[in-house]
Amino acid sequence: MKTSDHDNKIPPGPSAPWLGLPLLGEMKNDLLGTAQRMREQYGDVVHFRMASQPYYYFFSPELIRELLVEHADDLIRHERAIEVFSLVYGDNVLTTEGDTWKRQRRILMPGFLPKKITGYVDLMTGAVADAMVTAFPEKGPAGNVLDVDSFTTVLTMDVILRVLFSHKVSEAESQRAFEASRALEHQGMRELFWPKTPPDWFPYPGRKQKLKSKADLENLIGSQVQVRRAAGEDQATKTDYLAMLLSAHDDEAQGASSSPTLSTEEIRDNCMVIFAAGHDTTATVMTWWIGLMAHHPEVAEKVRQEVAEVAGDRNPTADELSRMKWMNATIKEAMRLYPPTPNLFFRCPVRDIEIGGWHVPKGASINVPVWHVQHDARWFPEPESFRPERFMPNAAEIPRGAYMPFGAGPRVCIGQHLATIEMALIATFLIRQFDLSPGDAAGLPSPKIDMVLKPETTLRVKFTRR
Ligand code: HEM
Repeated sequence: MKTSDHDNKIPPGPSAPWLGLPLLGEMKNDLLGTAQRMREQYGDVVHFRMASQPYYYFFSPELIRELLVEHADDLIRHERAIEVFSLVYGDNVLTTEGDTWKRQRRILMPGFLPKKITGYVDLMTGAVADAMVTAFPEKGPAGNVLDVDSFTTVLTMDVILRVLFSHKVSEAESQRAFEASRALEHQGMRELFWPKTPPDWFPYPGRKQKLKSKADLENLIGSQVQVRRAAGEDQATKTDYLAMLLSAHDDEAQGASSSPTLSTEEIRDNCMVIFAAGHDTTATVMTWWIGLMAHHPEVAEKVRQEVAEVAGDRNPTADELSRMKWMNATIKEAMRLYPPTPNLFFRCPVRDIEIGGWHVPKGASINVPVWHVQHDARWFPEPESFRPERFMPNAAEIPRGAYMPFGAGPRVCIGQHLATIEMALIATFLIRQFDLSPGDAAGLPSPKIDMVLKPETTLRVKFTRR
């Protein structure tokens, strides 16, 4: 709806007395449930105020696209979330805005193009093959019950480090990076609800662990960048992402204010964010996918057959992985049910805008509730059922904006092609080698929002070698 029939009118929504503190408390306890109840009660556009700040929720695909695509230039990401993130990961393509973001995205993008990703497949395959040996040392058929999320997190961390640096981390480094990432994630969620993060010298809750975890990650990643920068080696001999960044040149750079190359600090900060954004998200999808396969063995069998038909016993190529339609449909359906980022970063208009005829003032906080749109029966009949058929080529068309695990508009996930190939590769190795069955009597755990959508209780699966 683009007419101005709601012009200057405020959308319906809950009144939020006491500066919105009771509503904030409800959200802190149950963010997904609170938004769901608001949608049921007030419809596709919801507005409320917390303290004096206006908040908007858009639940309709059409309005979300109008917001993220047509109004992309009128929006920045919400300051608090970005502030929390940049305190740890620095100024990078995720945390910057305007011309700085455009320049970083231009320089980073070539390393994420499908052609380039084909070159990372060998690096990724090495990591996945090694993980199969480390996580499952025994050769016999006895089943191993694993905490799936720990397994996928260590695995995807190794994958992204190899794509970045061709580097295989030691077990000790891997454990340190795992603990650091988890600690930073929990701390990030905690600080999101604070109006401001105190300076580092102030003894705020979680500070000591946060600074140690940040230093651990900086050491791991920064040392790689330093060593390669100092070696001054010919980057053409390497096929990893760092080689691309070290030799990258921005042809659109103009004048002294915009350098055509990235500084060492910019490279480190972007490697930090690629590491952070690039492993926990894929780990989460793989965690839920493994859980879903364990609970739907008939679907897993179809995936296994397809893998055998397309790639036989060989390590699959990027092209073969893209041709596994049923496999990719199961991964897409896992991302629909459990989108790793159930809400995009809050958006904030830099000038007054109009969405669907509703006036949204400069400075408002806008939520794009990915989880709710992907669980809406209008676009996905029987939304709680696992039905990969929805994503097969002959399925009914899904409205644009109704499925967006990678976001939409110019700030869509830069790593989406890499993630798609990586997830299909991991899935191929697992489904070939193991029968998956539930490790606990109960069904799949409920989802819980951390920085990404994790299982609320440990998800255990039995891996039985075939
Ligand atoms: C299944 C895996 C993944 C999912 C579901 C995912 C999801 C997302 C989403 C939803 C956004 C946009 C957030 C917003 O608009 O507020 C985003 C941005 C981003 N993602 Fe991913 N992501 C995944 C994998 C990756 C990987 C593998 C990398 C890097 C190797 C990566 C790097 C980034 C970066 C750097 C941004 C910021 C882009 C920008 O602002 O220009 N992501 N991701």
